[in-house]
Amino acid sequence: MNVNDSERMSTILHREGYAEAKNEAEADVIVMNTCHIREKASDKMYSALGRYAALQKDEDGKFVKSKIVAVTGCVAQAEGEQIFARSKTTDMVIGPHAYHKLPEYLAKAEKGEKTVATDFTEEEKFKIDAIAAPAKRSAFLTVQEGCDKFCTFCVVPYTRGAEYSRKFEDVMAEARRLADQGVREITLLGQNVNAYHGVDASGKIRSLADVIEKIAEIKEIFRIRYTTSHPNDMTEDLIAAHRDIEKLSPYLHLPVQSGSDKILKAMNRKHTVASYHAVIEKIRKAQPNLALSSDFIVGFPGESDQDFEDTMRLAAEIRFASSFSFKYSPRPGTPAAAQDTQIPETVKTERLARLQALLLADQERFNHESVGKFFDIIIEKPGRRAGQWIGKSPYLQSVAVETESSAIGVLVRAEVISAGQNSLIGKYLHEIAV
Ligand code: 5AD
Ligand code: SF4
Repeated sequence: MNVNDSERMSTILHREGYAEAKNEAEADVIVMNTCHIREKASDKMYSALGRYAALQKDEDGKFVKSKIVAVTGCVAQAEGEQIFARSKTTDMVIGPHAYHKLPEYLAKAEKGEKTVATDFTEEEKFKIDAIAAPAKRSAFLTVQEGCDKFCTFCVVPYTRGAEYSRKFEDVMAEARRLADQGVREITLLGQNVNAYHGVDASGKIRSLADVIEKIAEIKEIFRIRYTTSHPNDMTEDLIAAHRDIEKLSPYLHLPVQSGSDKILKAMNRKHTVASYHAVIEKIRKAQPNLALSSDFIVGFPGESDQDFEDTMRLAAEIRFASSFSFKYSPRPGTPAAAQDTQIPETVKTERLARLQALLLADQERFNHESVGKFFDIIIEKPGRRAGQWIGKSPYLQSVAVETESSAIGVLVRAEVISAGQNSLIGKYLHEIAV
């Protein structure tokens, strides 16, 4: 989501005549996009702001303003004007719903005026998507934003606001436009993407499965992905889409967070270990080639040794192809942060190391199991060696292929010949005509 937001801001700035600077020192304008999900991210933001201030000193060490600094994203949303108090050099604070205001605020900053935008004007926000972005083969398409689930550890419902689905026809028009621009793979985006419920022109509510089905009809689109999902929103029609729609990637990011029912309840996840297993079983039945990835939190308040062992067991049973795992980070204003059963940092560190060792071994095994398979890959960038090109497999693995004729944006078929912990090597077979 943040990568996509940064791309949108970059598109706006390009339209205003800005070009990308080589580095921070050379830049006239610095736009920092921020994440508020864990504490470390906001700490990093303040240290970067300190660095930008240091870049604006003259020979005597005196501050001479030479750059406009914008803080955007969820830390901007959460902290608003308070950022000015800690960082005198910041000129504007723009939350994730107001990026369209960048040009107006830049003009104000030129005159020395500070600005804050943390309100939510949903229709306007999505207008940015209608601006032609640089031609790419793989693109994001935001269908939904925000979240109403209120997991007790999570800031998203506060920073990204209530769940909001774009209109069905708007989504389809954008998919069509992307296809016309040369995009061949679309990743449908939303904090709770499978909760999508957009209205169509006839006033009917359409589901994510409807969106996927309709996009699959676009001849030029060759692969569809979606992220991030909640287990409780894996509806029957979405599961059926995994069975029926060939273009839908057999790879699903389905965060489970914990393998203990007690902790899941305390997290307000509204699902159990058994219901998570049940939903996965259903999807695997619909799509036998399915691979899964997940998010985990260790050291949630009140997590006992047994609760953690239950998480280890769940991971061992499901065998995720890839995962993201984090130490619980108390976030101001969330219910879990106020609990008096916080877990010591040393325990969190130890648990995370054990879980990550298991998850990494599973990822490596999954990569090794890919050897001998034939994957369709969209070439995204050159590899380290001449003639080597990097793209993504259907399972989001990085694949390096060697071909003299190939270049960025080409779709190729490759046979996986070897695997490492984080990437694969493929033998180039042929180009795919789309
Ligand atoms: N502490 C640690 N991890 C968190 N996540 C969300 N909030 C927190 C928090 N307070 C993780 C969850 C979520 C992912 C995007 O970030 O695992 O799925
Ligand atoms: Fe946060 Fe996801 Fe829970 Fe929503 S469903 S509150 S985004 S973890």
